[in-house]
Amino acid sequence: MGLLLPQLPFAFDDLEPAMSEDALSFHFARHHLDHFERTAALAQRAGLGHLTLEELVCSASRAPRLRTLYRHAAEAWNHACFWESMRAGGGGAAYGAIGDCLRERFGSYERFARRFHGVAATLFGNGWLWLTWKGDRIRLLTTGAGDTPLVRGHVVLLAVDLWEHAYYLDHQNRRGAWLRTFLDELVDWDRVNRVLED
Ligand SMILES: [Fe+2]
Repeated sequence: MGLLLPQLPFAFDDLEPAMSEDALSFHFARHHLDHFERTAALAQRAGLGHLTLEELVCSASRAPRLRTLYRHAAEAWNHACFWESMRAGGGGAAYGAIGDCLRERFGSYERFARRFHGVAATLFGNGWLWLTWKGDRIRLLTTGAGDTPLVRGHVVLLAVDLWEHAYYLDHQNRRGAWLRTFLDELVDWDRVNRVLED
């Protein structure tokens, strides 16, 4: 099947004003597509052009000689998860199955939101914040740049880009403001509930 060109699940201006058209279009075209194109070229050179992106991430993670390919493929995969984590008119307290899970795990949605900020603050430099399901429980974790929890058996519920390029145009250096905007105005709990039902 090979690699499929990344597609956004919304138009560049659909998430305004929470995410500006400039921020979204630069992010997709200059960062996500760059990782995708580098992944495609490196996969071709390694004779792995027939693999899907997910297969490439998992294969390359097990081969030290494919470290650069792994990093770009992981970033391409992470970005696809990130776009799917948001929708126009999203945000607000979690509801449905994910609302129940978060209350059970953290005590309340508000305590989850505080932990969300707290865990993100532990990441030094660029990387990702994740809400995942692994084993029998929900988890909040970070990964550094060029890494992904996919290769450690996590089912991704939410991906939040913590690279500075994800928020600098709209929030400058204020990562906390970006995280508040993500939770209050962008997160797609409907999609998380669909993943939990599967
Ligand atoms: Fe990014």
